[in-house]
Amino acid sequence: MNILLRITSYTLKFKLYLILGYICTVGAVISYLLIPELLGGIVDRIDPNSTNESIYKSLNLTFLLIILFSLGCTRGAFSYGQNYYGEALSFKVSKVLRDQLYDKTQKLDFYFHDKTHTGEMMSRVIVDIEGIRMFIPMGIVRSPYVFLMFFGSITLLLIKNFELAIYACSFLVLSGFLAARMRLKLRQIWLKVQEKNAELNALLQENLNGIKVVKAFYAESHQINKFSNTNEEFKELNINVENFRAITMTTVLFAYWATLALILAIGGLKVINGEMSIGDLISFMFYMQLLAMPVRMIGWLLNASTRGSTCGKRIFEVLDTKPQITNPSNANTNFYKMKGEIIFKNVSHQFPDAKSESVKDVNLSIKKNQSISITGEAGSGKSTLVQLLLRFYDPSNGAIYIDGKNIKDIDLGILRKNIGYVHQDVFIFNETFKNNICYGNPAASMDKIIEAAQIAQIHEYINSLPDKYNSLISENGANLSGGQKQRLSIARTLLLDPPILILDDSTSSVDASTEKDIQKAINKLISGRTVITIAHKLNNFQQSSNIAVMNKGEITEYGSHDHLINLNGIYKNIYELQTTN
Ligand SMILES: Nc1ncnc2c1ncn2[C@@H]1O[C@H](COP(=O)(O)OP(=O)(O)OP(=O)(O)O)[C@@H](O)[C@H]1O
Ligand SMILES: [Mg+2]
Repeated sequence: MNILLRITSYTLKFKLYLILGYICTVGAVISYLLIPELLGGIVDRIDPNSTNESIYKSLNLTFLLIILFSLGCTRGAFSYGQNYYGEALSFKVSKVLRDQLYDKTQKLDFYFHDKTHTGEMMSRVIVDIEGIRMFIPMGIVRSPYVFLMFFGSITLLLIKNFELAIYACSFLVLSGFLAARMRLKLRQIWLKVQEKNAELNALLQENLNGIKVVKAFYAESHQINKFSNTNEEFKELNINVENFRAITMTTVLFAYWATLALILAIGGLKVINGEMSIGDLISFMFYMQLLAMPVRMIGWLLNASTRGSTCGKRIFEVLDTKPQITNPSNANTNFYKMKGEIIFKNVSHQFPDAKSESVKDVNLSIKKNQSISITGEAGSGKSTLVQLLLRFYDPSNGAIYIDGKNIKDIDLGILRKNIGYVHQDVFIFNETFKNNICYGNPAASMDKIIEAAQIAQIHEYINSLPDKYNSLISENGANLSGGQKQRLSIARTLLLDPPILILDDSTSSVDASTEKDIQKAINKLISGRTVITIAHKLNNFQQSSNIAVMNKGEITEYGSHDHLINLNGIYKNIYELQTTN
């Protein structure tokens, strides 16, 4: 569907505002068009030498002035209504669009988020939606105003004086040509402006997120230059838009005033020769003035519509993206606790733009309440493998079963609520400790929250703070150490009490003694759940009955610690390196 039509279809959700907006538009046009006619009539009524034998001659002057005054007031009231309903409608539509966009970003999967820059997404949510919003009062509510004013004034000009009206139209030809050229040119510039804006946002967001790296590498000036260059290009493009618009509009205005002078000269002669009354000339000049208004507005209209369509294109692109990970339509949506028996059957996965598979033909069976460990070099596919279990991605081959059921047939919400995943990259919300821990279960009691924090070895630290569990954590845990963040994220997952627990390198940032404490506490928790622990450090593996070693996406070694040592392979190699160190 055409983008502008699609934006228009959103306004139909608020028909009352649209209808009231149009009623005010028509009212404003009619009262506006009546004013010059009445003005001319009043001038002729006042002029004792006027030869114009119109009805105004016979009417009371005070009465005519009262009508003129009332028309002025009516026009004002209708203009107010037109502005109010147009703007209110635009804010209502932009709210719907912003909600839809936010909703979509929450529902879109990692195939989308992995390739979309956060800053660019923010630019879409804020700047592009504003571009669409601004199109609504101008392009949708006011366009009939421009259209009616234009044709209304031309018609009345032709009725008033055909010959003068033909001269008046000469400037329209030039204006029309300029307007068409402007639309073509603005389309290209606006697209570039929006792209540059998104780039600027992305740069800003990345820079602020990575400020520690920037400072550590003393790279402030490099970042400042990078930002300044893009900022400069953004400024130039915006100046280009305004410059182009100003040149076009000035030329249009020049043509208008030149035509007006011509009309005054010819019309003045007609008045002197008695071919036209002075009142008619005044009416004519006012209609010219009214005609200039829609012509000038065409410029704004074109600007708003080209901007609206480029912004709309970027918004609808996201709204039309179909998630690759979909929720099965006929799955049971009533929460139930899984037993936790997991089977990976010939599972392979390749990321969209990757050259090779990140997970290759994995067969792995984990019994209910069993605890297994996965190790392997960085990039060997450990995290990808467990993320397939959560359906962050779907296998390109093979299938994963929990309790005998293909996970693609399980409701996504139920699947993910049954799996507690302590992510390798910890994310902490800019909230209190309490809210961070009970994120997955806001109804949890304070006792449960404290219990989870105790197991994760973070309770003592939280308790030492002045506001205890109500202390606020800075954005992404800036006021916490790496180990504290990891422990907080463990507590958050433990609170869910999930039948399947995945710990992805969760103790990499804690010291050896805390790690031992957490491990001990987790060992107590292990009973009654299926646990997958991913780790580089092998010191805790000796007790683990089953260890899988991954290499380039494949599970190359599998078995107990002693078995793997006897295999004399990768595991033994890593183990010896770690123990001799
Ligand atoms: N979102 C992604 N898009 C494309 N490729 C990815 C993505 N995530 C991971 N990869 C690639 O897939 C491979 C496996 O990555 P994965 O994160 O599973 O490794 P890992 O074994 O968990 O490593 P580490 O021990 O460092 O955490 C790597 O080559 C990585 O570059
Ligand atoms: Mg990983």
